[in-house]
Amino acid sequence: MKKGEKGVLIFIAMVVLAMMIWNSEKLSKSSNQDKEIPFYSDASMDVKQAGSAIYRRYQCKRCHSLWTVKDIMQTVPAPALDGIGALRDAYWLMRYLSVANPQDILPSRLKTEYRMPSYSTMPEKDRKVLVAYLASLKVKPWYLDELKKTECRKLTGEKC
Ligand code: HEC
Repeated sequence: MKKGEKGVLIFIAMVVLAMMIWNSEKLSKSSNQDKEIPFYSDASMDVKQAGSAIYRRYQCKRCHSLWTVKDIMQTVPAPALDGIGALRDAYWLMRYLSVANPQDILPSRLKTEYRMPSYSTMPEKDRKVLVAYLASLKVKPWYLDELKKTECRKLTGEKC
């Protein structure tokens, strides 16, 4: 083999090796994130259980999805509640669930029957537990931007 040819071969081998390393790093990063569910709750077991029982009792899943659970017949484009505690704090949530007209706080783009109903008549102790549960629903930092975009799309109907 000529000297020049050897040099070219070594060069190609190095490029191939560099690409393999780069690819495998990329793969391991993306597969970690693909496997990892970005949503979690940091509440105690008691709050989780009591909160999700109230969530079920009041049929929030008629319009919202949470932990990928939603009604099969669900047609309302309401925002999903996964990670909501990263977007709204307990104070905001309590106000939102307590006012007579939630659209005063968050304007709606939907027909009246699809809008967020008022839960001002829900007993205060139920509202408190529900709020504690909702506020505990968090998202991993790497998914936060995506979550904000999705929420914005749902609320405005625009691309965001
Ligand atoms: C009739 C459908 C419907 C039901 C039932 C419903 N929601 Fe909503 N909810 C909506 C819609 C739609 C919005 C978005 C604002 C709007 O259009 O009024 C919303 C908004 C919200 C938000 C604010 C979301 C955000 O992105 O800031 C929270 C929190 C919420 N709902 C919680 C609940 C909880 C908890 C229940 C059950 C107690 C519930 N909702 C029941 C339709 C509903």
